[in-house]
Amino acid sequence: MSLSEREIREENHQELFTKTRQSFLFPVNTQGQPRTYLCGNSLGLQPRLAQDLIQQELQRWATLGIDGYFEGETAWVHYADQCKPELARLTGSGEDEVVLMNSLTTNLHLLMASFFQPRGNKRKILIEQQAFPTDHYAMASQLQWHGLSPAEDLIVVQPDQPGGVFSLVHFQQVIEQHADELALILLPAVQYVSGQWLPMEEITRVARHHGITIGWDCAHAAGNVPLKLHDWQVDFAVGCTYKYLNGGPGAPGWAFVHRKHHGRNLPRLTGWWGNRPQSRFEMAPEFEPADGVNAWQLSNVPVLATAAVLAGLSVFSEVPISVLREQSLRLHTILRGILAQYDQLVMLTPASDQAHGCQLAFGHGGGRDATRELFEHLLADDIIGDWREPGIIRLSPVPLYNNQEDLQKVAGSLGRFFQG
Ligand SMILES: Cc1ncc(COP(=O)(O)O)c(C=O)c1O
Repeated sequence: MSLSEREIREENHQELFTKTRQSFLFPVNTQGQPRTYLCGNSLGLQPRLAQDLIQQELQRWATLGIDGYFEGETAWVHYADQCKPELARLTGSGEDEVVLMNSLTTNLHLLMASFFQPRGNKRKILIEQQAFPTDHYAMASQLQWHGLSPAEDLIVVQPDQPGGVFSLVHFQQVIEQHADELALILLPAVQYVSGQWLPMEEITRVARHHGITIGWDCAHAAGNVPLKLHDWQVDFAVGCTYKYLNGGPGAPGWAFVHRKHHGRNLPRLTGWWGNRPQSRFEMAPEFEPADGVNAWQLSNVPVLATAAVLAGLSVFSEVPISVLREQSLRLHTILRGILAQYDQLVMLTPASDQAHGCQLAFGHGGGRDATRELFEHLLADDIIGDWREPGIIRLSPVPLYNNQEDLQKVAGSLGRFFQG
């Protein structure tokens, strides 16, 4: 019997993902056995290559000192540029539109300095209720910075569906209702609790239709769902690299500014690294902006931290985005099927393929304590997920390093919990 085209494709994919899985180091239990890691939504695993790339730059620092900035293939003045091709591919940006720098929250503030320009009646910011706290704090403090009041000028959209989920129609209605007073919309691309992937393209279109600037927090989206920030005409976006990009704890963030805003006379908080590289070391007091998003850079790059980011990005380089997404959906569907066998479990993450990444968020219908008991049981079985109050478990099968056997371990553990 000959294999169907689909089966051949799946077999090839399995080979590819066996290889990517081997590129990572898994946490181990007290017996030294690898634990089942389903927590990439919080912190991605360490790519094996990270230690080599960090060691390489430590060695260059030891032997070259200051000359490391300008000498060799990985000269530190250009070091972060090596991230651009893969960051651009994973975010659907041009290399002139995306840059690795600072941290997500810092980048959010920097881009708000350029893109939040309250004028007269058009001075409000729209955000969603369960957005990650940093988004709330940043938006509230930006309003205050401009002498405005978060109580009056922050429009907080409540979810209209069970499980903290939003419908597109709901967003459309709220945006239309406030169109005349909105200066900015900031939303999470993938909601960090429910795991919902918001309809980014459609919401961006609604914002554009009403002439409202829109930015996306892509912390849970980059490396998780296919993004087309350029094609969707997103104004700006920010992200981190320590979750699905596997860049390490506290790894640098990234920023996206759409090409249509490059070269505009936007207000900007500047630093010397945003100066044109050709004249940066002339040390002139006048600022000459670098091309594209690079003009938003402030400081020279943390090379050792960036080395780990490069290691993380390198694992993606052999995987087409469509193949990554196919594998992600495959694992997500398997896990969803396993959880669905238990009526006691309540799923928060929407079921439609278009509305989620790899993460599955759920709780026990018995309430917080029952959910906590289940979470502890999974942990005792060496299954690492994560916990969010007021009683939510998040499990994220990451296509680069999780496989079906990991999910079978979850199935076994759940079986023991519910039957044992
Ligand atoms: C959605 C979201 N936004 C922002 C952040 C915080 O980013 P940072 O600490 O890199 O500024 C996180 C951290 O987990 C997050 O999940």
